[in-house]
Amino acid sequence: MIDAKKLFVKTYGCQMNVYDSERMAEALGAKGYVTTETVEEADMVLLNTCHIREKASEKLYSDLGRLRALKAARPGMKVGVAGCVAQAEGEEILRRSPVVDLVVGPQAYHRLPAMVEAGGRVVDTDFPVEDKFTLLPERKALRGPTAFLTVQEGCDKFCAFCVVPYTRGAEVSRPVARLLDEARALVAQGVREITLLGQNVNGYHGQGPDGTWGLARLLREMAGIEGLARLRYTTSHPNDMDDELIAAHGELPQLMPYLHLPVQSGSDRILKAMNRKHTAESYLRLVERIRAARPDILLSSDFIVGFPGETDADFQATMELIRAVGYGAAFSFRYSARPGTPAAEKPAVPAGIADARLQELQALVTAQQRAAQEAMVGREVSVLYEKPGRKEGQMVGKSDHLHAVHVQDPAGRIGQLVRVRVTASSTNSLAAEPL
Ligand code: SAH
Ligand code: SF4
Ligand code: F3S
Repeated sequence: MIDAKKLFVKTYGCQMNVYDSERMAEALGAKGYVTTETVEEADMVLLNTCHIREKASEKLYSDLGRLRALKAARPGMKVGVAGCVAQAEGEEILRRSPVVDLVVGPQAYHRLPAMVEAGGRVVDTDFPVEDKFTLLPERKALRGPTAFLTVQEGCDKFCAFCVVPYTRGAEVSRPVARLLDEARALVAQGVREITLLGQNVNGYHGQGPDGTWGLARLLREMAGIEGLARLRYTTSHPNDMDDELIAAHGELPQLMPYLHLPVQSGSDRILKAMNRKHTAESYLRLVERIRAARPDILLSSDFIVGFPGETDADFQATMELIRAVGYGAAFSFRYSARPGTPAAEKPAVPAGIADARLQELQALVTAQQRAAQEAMVGREVSVLYEKPGRKEGQMVGKSDHLHAVHVQDPAGRIGQLVRVRVTASSTNSLAAEPL
């Protein structure tokens, strides 16, 4: 018997890349590859890359540098580059890095097995007319009781700083029937929580049995799948939060009380320069409406500091907005000029100033995050067990509000949804005991 070929996958960037990596592993699995966690024993190494900030894409080249020695020791080994750097740089990657055999973009990876079979050094960064999802093998539940499900890809918003509309292409929504099939297949394999994914997920407008469906309708239908306990979705644009979707947060018990709703800045001048097409005020009003529908919802956001032209007053407006909203979590980044985007042409804010602002902002959101977590102490919450903890008899999972929770529960099983009482809050997690 021939040993199965081994595949090592490294995923950078967002959750959509995590989803894509799983699907690429499944596609290669159909050709006899099994995944390994040990790069040294891999017959194929696949790097699924991110282009969002300069540092993210530089990681690819430092990893490729390290792979050179490994490949020299294992001459049959293949190296593939997928994801957003693959899309953005294409052939350039083969030129810069002789160790690379294959370059495949996010819309072409259903062709990966054929590329591997054909051999040679090849690039495929097409946006093919065929739907890659229909050509991929059936979905497997790989991460226990939780799963991602990409419902929408691409972005038509063209924020001035962002590469996504170029690397992922125009917005495309997958048809409702296929998504329901995929969700049911996951639930049949033990999945209890599904996070619907899209670069602009609340802009979802897919073909339903009776015309076009929005995200609210899709969520409502999925909530009816027996055995599916929890639904989440990410990432949303403020301008696509329609009334029906807001109402769903008050009506669907399966829809969890946590929403990632990036605002980027609290200065109208900067929001305009970013081409965000919303104001700080319209965002705050939106937050009020969401909280009216689901009062205990936790909100999170992304922030960019040091966008070209950002003054101290602009930055203070962002701090003001953060104080006004009160976030449960937030992700903040120093602006990074990306080739090909409109903002990259503009003069940068000096690095020292941008760094100081980033630190100030992070101190504020960290304090808010901690306060939101501490407010859970003493409360009863639900936790979906995802894995055993480090301590004997301990289970780890997420609460409805997406807090990591450690529960001392020797009888606990992975995939169980349990009611617990929160007893303590530490830096990044809560401790709790079963009721
Ligand atoms: N679709 C999502 C965001 C995708 S990118 C949305 O619209 O919010 C994830 C985050 O990376 C963005 O929200 C933004 O805060 C950050 N980001 C994107 N481009 C960036 C850049 N050029 N420099 C710094 N941060 C950036
Ligand atoms: Fe990028 Fe803006 Fe699209 Fe989000 S909405 S992916 S930040 S262009
Ligand atoms: Fe990065 Fe592409 Fe996601 S640039 S954030 S991997 S869409």
